[in-house]
Amino acid sequence: MRSHAKNNKPKTMNITITTPLYYVNDKPHLGSTYTTIACDAYARFHRLNGNKVNFITGVDEHGQKIQRTAELKKISPTKHCEKISMEYKALWKQWSISNDFFIRTTDSHHQTLVNQFFERVKASGDIKLGHQQGWYCVGCEEYKDLPKDAIKPTCSIHLKELEWRDEENLFFCLSKYQKQIESLLEREDFIQPASRRNEIINFVSKGLNDFSISRLNVEWGLKVPGHEGHTFYVWFDALLGYLSALIPDDKDVNLSEIEQYGWPAYIHIIGKDILRFHAIYWPAMLLSAGLELPKKVYGHGFLTREGQKMGKSIGNVLDPVFLINKYGEDAIRWYLLSDFKFGQDGDFQHKRFVDLINNDLANTIGNLLNRTTTMTRNWYEDKVPRNNQENPTNELKDLANKTIPKVVNYYNDLSFKEACSEILNLASTANLYLNNIQPWKLIKESSNKDIVAFHLYNVLETTRIVGILLKPILPNLSSKILNQLGYNNQAQNWNDDLKWGKLLPSSSLPSPCPILYKIED
Ligand code: MSP
Repeated sequence: MRSHAKNNKPKTMNITITTPLYYVNDKPHLGSTYTTIACDAYARFHRLNGNKVNFITGVDEHGQKIQRTAELKKISPTKHCEKISMEYKALWKQWSISNDFFIRTTDSHHQTLVNQFFERVKASGDIKLGHQQGWYCVGCEEYKDLPKDAIKPTCSIHLKELEWRDEENLFFCLSKYQKQIESLLEREDFIQPASRRNEIINFVSKGLNDFSISRLNVEWGLKVPGHEGHTFYVWFDALLGYLSALIPDDKDVNLSEIEQYGWPAYIHIIGKDILRFHAIYWPAMLLSAGLELPKKVYGHGFLTREGQKMGKSIGNVLDPVFLINKYGEDAIRWYLLSDFKFGQDGDFQHKRFVDLINNDLANTIGNLLNRTTTMTRNWYEDKVPRNNQENPTNELKDLANKTIPKVVNYYNDLSFKEACSEILNLASTANLYLNNIQPWKLIKESSNKDIVAFHLYNVLETTRIVGILLKPILPNLSSKILNQLGYNNQAQNWNDDLKWGKLLPSSSLPSPCPILYKIED
């Protein structure tokens, strides 16, 4: 019998991660920044684990909402979209977002793909002409489930009056997919977090209605081939952006080849308000077109500000450009990912933000790095001390080795808050360790130099591991920490970097450079 060598290498996966494609009706806000930062952390985590990641973000540029915004500004929709799309691109660059693709639904590739997709759905017999009546919210670009005689109904999200619509549209036969969607929802991991699954199961159990996929009165959209005057409904067009994004610019669009470019998506990360589109309509559309379904849909919570919904009319919208310019990316990324349980709603509170950054980043992580590198510089000529002690108990090493798999699992589940808290606990314990050992007293006796070297090495190594663990969420701060430790030859795969003992004795520390400041407001 032929024997196979045991291969312990972790299997490389193809991971396609998406943010929603943001409406360009207005400049980017903190809500879209929140989703994108979380996706970025997740994409970085998978890359660090050696997976091939396709991280997609982009913008949703068609529909009545955008058309009206451009009309109000008295510019063409094309010009308006160009301007806001550029703002998104610039913002993501400023926030160190590591997206591999940026799709605009006005890209010509996308138009071709939408037409191909429509042909497939039509060939499956899933398109019919129908009549649609109902209350419509232009902000959501969605019909609301309300009776005709509702008096001045408003949208609970946009707080604006709904518009009565009565039109002839093309419909997608969603009802045909009732059974298939029901069995998809039986898969426990399809919708996450689990708390959002029931709400979708309930909705589906009432029976799925066909939904309209074209509009007669909206000029700013992709034309429906063979149906003069109809443009595609913005949601039909936008969801397909996830597919167009993957097709390289120099390749012809061919839906039959989409799997070789990274489809199906491993995860769609979206806000809870658009879960229905992603967990019901989108899978049905894909089934109709004979394409694979996404593996998971994650609906995260909403951010409020000081207990209030953020809105332009209230004038309390947090501007991500202002935030990054004033506080820097590390502070905001840390606050958003460490304080809000991903999946649940969160409230942005200024005082809490300032306290958290000063305590966690400046006092705990920054202080750990400063004091450890300063002692090393002063007592060991700027070099990582050699640990000559055979010491069977090494509490920091033990804690680091326990913390690492926990943090990795948390990242894998998108439990960023929990991952941050473990990392912080490791850093705080290292600070306490120094307080208890009091190396500044020990070093006064020259005979203690070896034992101090042992302790300092442990704390330096713990700080290095903190820096490596921070990589997915705070890439910028992580490289500053590692730099200050003189740890520049990082391994390709972070699992190697996460092994205890990688900081080489006698390696030099660079000149000191403060990397974290307290917020003074
Ligand atoms: N264009 C559609 C998505 C199409 S995906 C094929 C859309 N765009 S959006 O710009 O209105 O919203 C994008 C995302 O931002 C949504 O996931 C939404 O949940 C999220 N957020 C909007 N406001 C938010 C908060 N206040 N807090 C957290 N996320 C929020 O919908």
